[in-house]
Amino acid sequence: MAHVLLTGASSGIGAALAVEFARRGYDLGLIARRAEKLEEVAAEVRALGRKAAIAAADVTDREAMETAIASLVAELGPVDIAIANAGAGGDTSASQLDADASSAMFRLNVEGVLHTFAPVLPDMVERGSGQIVAMSSLAGLIGLPGGGVYSATKAAVQTLMQSFSVTLRPKGVAVTTINPGFVRTPLTDKNSFPMPFMWEVDKAARVMADGIERKRRVIEFPWQLSFALRLGRVLPAAWAEALLRRMR
Ligand SMILES: NC(=O)c1ccc[n+]([C@@H]2O[C@H](COP(=O)([O-])OP(=O)(O)OC[C@H]3O[C@@H](n4cnc5c(N)ncnc54)[C@H](OP(=O)(O)O)[C@@H]3O)[C@@H](O)[C@H]2O)c1
Repeated sequence: MAHVLLTGASSGIGAALAVEFARRGYDLGLIARRAEKLEEVAAEVRALGRKAAIAAADVTDREAMETAIASLVAELGPVDIAIANAGAGGDTSASQLDADASSAMFRLNVEGVLHTFAPVLPDMVERGSGQIVAMSSLAGLIGLPGGGVYSATKAAVQTLMQSFSVTLRPKGVAVTTINPGFVRTPLTDKNSFPMPFMWEVDKAARVMADGIERKRRVIEFPWQLSFALRLGRVLPAAWAEALLRRMR
């Protein structure tokens, strides 16, 4: 059966995606740092009649990721769909910039994506099939006030995936970027600011899995926030800035 490799599978969107793909008949290779949480998700996958294998690894550690992915491939076979979902957000102050925290966010949100795809891409290209999927964010469309570093990491992922799509699609490898708005997960549970058009995680996982199965280039929701932020991108810079200042 087709093997979906998924990082950040121990909670939130990743855990919901694992269960959704198991329902659709896929086997799951699950990566995150907390092995006990991964075991709980694996048990849900197995209860749905699919195979699940887990590997505890930190996505910022390149060698650990190579080892983890090799062990999942040994158990479940070649990866058909690799989903780089592990990530974290958080406010970042521009006036008191924390360089260490900012670097850590780049390592997790950007290098973590590269460490997920690098071990699987040579095999996908050789087979002329497969799909890589990165979890970006609507926050990557524009520099959100108070979240500049997070926005920058997610913009980096979008740019990377656009480039990969140009070169990999002709080789038979599909490339998908997911830009969600607010989804109720442990990550957003920490936020105290208003989160308009919040989606429940099961609905988000269904929409994401639909788009991934259709090999869509970009999956983006909700349309209301997507429209507003994409409009912000085409406005003159000073107008966009005035709008973002009001939002704040
Ligand atoms: N929720 C939203 O509204 C929203 C919106 C847009 C984009 N996103 C993106 O969606 C993704 C998932 O977020 P979520 O909301 O589901 O958050 P979450 O519930 O906090 O899940 C984050 C996942 O990433 C894993 N993770 C974190 N650091 C890791 C590391 N260094 N190595 C390996 N795994 C690591 C966590 O597992 P361990 O702690 O066990 O390692 C966990 O499984 C993120 O990339 C986030 O930026 C979320």
